[in-house]
Amino acid sequence: MSAEIGLIGLGTMGAALALNIAEKGHDIAVFNRTPSKTRDFMADVGELAPRLTPTETLEDFVQAIATPRTIILMVLAGEPVDEQIALLEPLLDADDLVIDAGNANFHDTNRRMRTLKQPFLGIGVSGGEEGARHGPAIMGGGPKSLWNRVEPVLHAISAKHKDEPCADWMGEEGAGHFVKAVHNGIEYADMQLIAEAYGIMRDGLGLDAQAIADTFAKWNDGPLRSYLIEISGIVAGTTDAATNGPILDVILDSAGQKGTGRWTAIEAQHLGAPIPVIEAAVAARNMSARKDERGRMEAIFGAAPQGFAPAEMPLEGLEQALICGKILCYDQGFRLIAAASDQFGWSLDGARIARVWREGCIIRSDMLDDMAAALSDSGVETLMAAPVFADHLKSTQAALRQVIATAVSHGAPVPALSSALSYLDTMRTHRGTANMIQGQRDYFGRHGFVRLDDGQKDQHGPWAG
Ligand code: 6PG
Repeated sequence: MSAEIGLIGLGTMGAALALNIAEKGHDIAVFNRTPSKTRDFMADVGELAPRLTPTETLEDFVQAIATPRTIILMVLAGEPVDEQIALLEPLLDADDLVIDAGNANFHDTNRRMRTLKQPFLGIGVSGGEEGARHGPAIMGGGPKSLWNRVEPVLHAISAKHKDEPCADWMGEEGAGHFVKAVHNGIEYADMQLIAEAYGIMRDGLGLDAQAIADTFAKWNDGPLRSYLIEISGIVAGTTDAATNGPILDVILDSAGQKGTGRWTAIEAQHLGAPIPVIEAAVAARNMSARKDERGRMEAIFGAAPQGFAPAEMPLEGLEQALICGKILCYDQGFRLIAAASDQFGWSLDGARIARVWREGCIIRSDMLDDMAAALSDSGVETLMAAPVFADHLKSTQAALRQVIATAVSHGAPVPALSSALSYLDTMRTHRGTANMIQGQRDYFGRHGFVRLDDGQKDQHGPWAG
C-alpha cells in the first residue's frame, strides 16, 4: 500500500508533524538521514504505527509514496535543504511536489521556486513541538494551484479557531516563509515586552517570583490573554528542583536566537519599513548575549539604582503599558507585511494573516481575533488607525508614558517599551524634524530638498561657501 505523503527529517518538529499527519488519518512514509533515528521514532509511535511507513534509503522512501508524490522536508534551514533536494530530485517524477516546511529564509524559497525542476511550496509552520504535534498555524507560499493540491491535509493537521483552520495560502513565491519570519519578529518583540515588564516587577517593584507569576496569570484573564503571557506566568511560578527556588533565578540571562527575528529586521531595512519595536527586541537579544561585557560595564558605571515605590508603578498601569506596546508592535509587523506585498507584488492580506495567527502559533492571542476583524475593513490604512485600536492606544498611552518615565528615571532598561512609544509619538507628528536632516544633507553634499511653501523639488540653501 502506498503512502499518501512523505516526510523527510525526524527531528523534534518533523517527528511531531509526522505523528500529527498520521493521527489525522493520512498514511505517511518517513525518512531520516540517520536510519537509527527513524527506528527510534518508530519505537515510540504506538497505535499510529499502521499509518507510518519507515524507510531507510531515499529510494525506498520515494517508492513508498503514491504518485504524484507530496514530500515534506523538515530539515535544518539553509544548505541542508538544498543538499536534500539535490539527492531527492533524480528520484522524482516531474509532477512530484516538494514542500519545505522548515524556517527557511524567504529569499532561499524564492530562489528554489525559480530554479527547481519540481513543483515547490514553502510553508511556515509555527507552534513549537506541541503545535506541530497537535495543530500548528500554517502559512503557505508558492503557486496557489499547488497549495490547493495539499490544502485538505494541511487544513486537517492545523490548529482551528472555532472551526476555521489556521492554515492558509499567503501569496506567491516565498510569501509563506516571509510571513513566518514576520511572525517570529513579532514573537521576539512580544517576548521582549513581557521580559521588560518582568524586569520592572522583579527589580523595580521587588516582587517575588510567585507574585510575578500571579500577575501574569491575572493579565491572562484580560485583554493581554495570549499563549506568551500564559507561559510567562508558568515559567515565573516554576520551582527548580535543585535549589528549591524559582527556576528563573537559575536561568542565565543570555537569550539565544536562531536568526529569523534578525531576518525580519534586515528585511524591514531593505524595504524601508519602520519596525523599531522588533529591531529593539533583536538588539536586546544581542545585548543579552554580552553577559561578561555587561558585567564589566556594571563595574564601571554601577548597577542601576532601581527600586520603585509601588505608587510609582501600579500593576494596572504596567498592564496598560504592555497593551499599548503590543498594539504598536503588531502595527509595525502589519506595515512590514504591506511594504513587502507592494514591493514583491504578493497581494498579502493582513486580515487573512491575523486569522491564521489566532491559534496554533507562538504569538496566538485573543487580540489577534480583534486585529483580524479590524484589518478586514478595507478602509483601514493601518492597525493603529483602525477605530477600535486607535481607541485602545488613546486610552493606554498615558500608562505607557508613565511606565517608561519611571523606569528610565530609575535606570531600568526598557528598550522595546520605549521604542513603541517613540514610534507612536513619531508617527502622530505631522511636522517632524527631518527638515534639519535635509538641510544638513544639502549643506554638506548639495543633495537638495523639497520646499514646503511651494512644493519645488531639488532646491538648495544659500549656504555660505
Ligand atoms: C514557532 C517559533 C519557532 C522558532 C523558535 C526559536 O513559530 O514555532 O517561532 O519557529 O524557531 O521559537 O526561535 P529563536 O531561536 O530565534 O528564538
